[in-house]
Amino acid sequence: MNFKIWKWRLFVLLLCLSFCCSALWAEENKPRILLLGTGGTIVGVANQNSPTGYTAGQLTVEELVRSLPGFERLGVDLKAEQVANIASQDMDYPVWKALVERIERAAAQDEADAFVITHGTDTLEETAFFLELALDIDNPVVLVGAMRPTTSLSADGPQNLWEAIQVASSVDSFGRGVLVSFAGEIFPARYATKASTLQTGAFAPTFGGAIGFTDAHRAHYYVASAKKQRRPWSLDWSKLESLPKVEIIPVYAGAGGEALLQALERGAQGIVIAGVGDGNMPASMLQACKRAQERGVPVVRATRVFQGYVHKDHEFKDSDYGTVAAYDLSPQKARILLQLLLARGVRDLERIQAALVGDQPGALRFAEEE
Ligand code: DGL
Repeated sequence: MNFKIWKWRLFVLLLCLSFCCSALWAEENKPRILLLGTGGTIVGVANQNSPTGYTAGQLTVEELVRSLPGFERLGVDLKAEQVANIASQDMDYPVWKALVERIERAAAQDEADAFVITHGTDTLEETAFFLELALDIDNPVVLVGAMRPTTSLSADGPQNLWEAIQVASSVDSFGRGVLVSFAGEIFPARYATKASTLQTGAFAPTFGGAIGFTDAHRAHYYVASAKKQRRPWSLDWSKLESLPKVEIIPVYAGAGGEALLQALERGAQGIVIAGVGDGNMPASMLQACKRAQERGVPVVRATRVFQGYVHKDHEFKDSDYGTVAAYDLSPQKARILLQLLLARGVRDLERIQAALVGDQPGALRFAEEE
């Protein structure tokens, strides 16, 4: 009888020990998330302008996390830093430089397993794409924002931030490049775009669909992580105080070539046409394209159309006007890739076109080879 009691006592003791060890292990192995704040509505506060009026970039990201009860249930080791605190219509290269240098340093010194960046929604897609091109790491980098300020009746920021941390701390998020997590959906930086000024589900993809979603517990992906063929456009940021000036020229019925010519006069080193349809522009702009070609200023044809991509030499003869096609990049993202190419001294149209085509996921590049 004695032996049986001791056997049970030993079993219970071992069970308690294994529970304590696993709890210790979990504590020691919490995903380390570095949360970098840049401002935006997610830390916005109501103002007196109107019942729904607010001012973006009012709280620090530290205050945001402290104000959200229950974050410890996420089971992550969270460290928050403020990189900027601006409305994202004021976003520009100096903040991008600070972000990329902080992330590169943290990754090199193994300070964090993943990164979450809180950001205004107006230019969130541009910061995401810049980091997608600039960073050469597999750690998850997840951008998140909100459509309602923290003081609104039902702020969407807390849930968005919770989900973004879930996405960042998911092992399935490694090697997927920069991600945008918004209103329960996960988008690749290349295609995420702000599609509504009103809805809390404000983001949509300009190509394909969301690549995953988050529920109250974790991130789920529809597709396996296709190991990204890294084409690192990373640079020595310490030597780059500003990006080359590239202007976006809108096209609309009746547009002329004046805006493009004025951009050349203002010293633009590159031009992106936000064309109609398949990156088309009126005959009145063709002479201005020729002028850019004579000055060695590359012109990339993108489209104002929300979805789809711009073909080379389809309806518009690029070879006649010294232009290249943006393919699956929106005008604002084609501009960022062109800026980084020019910053690396790439001005040759063939190489710029190859970069625009070559930087695409395989499926699209296949379309080019038809
Ligand atoms: N001013 C806008 C910005 O900071 C507010 C939009 C938002 O963050 O949702 O991008």
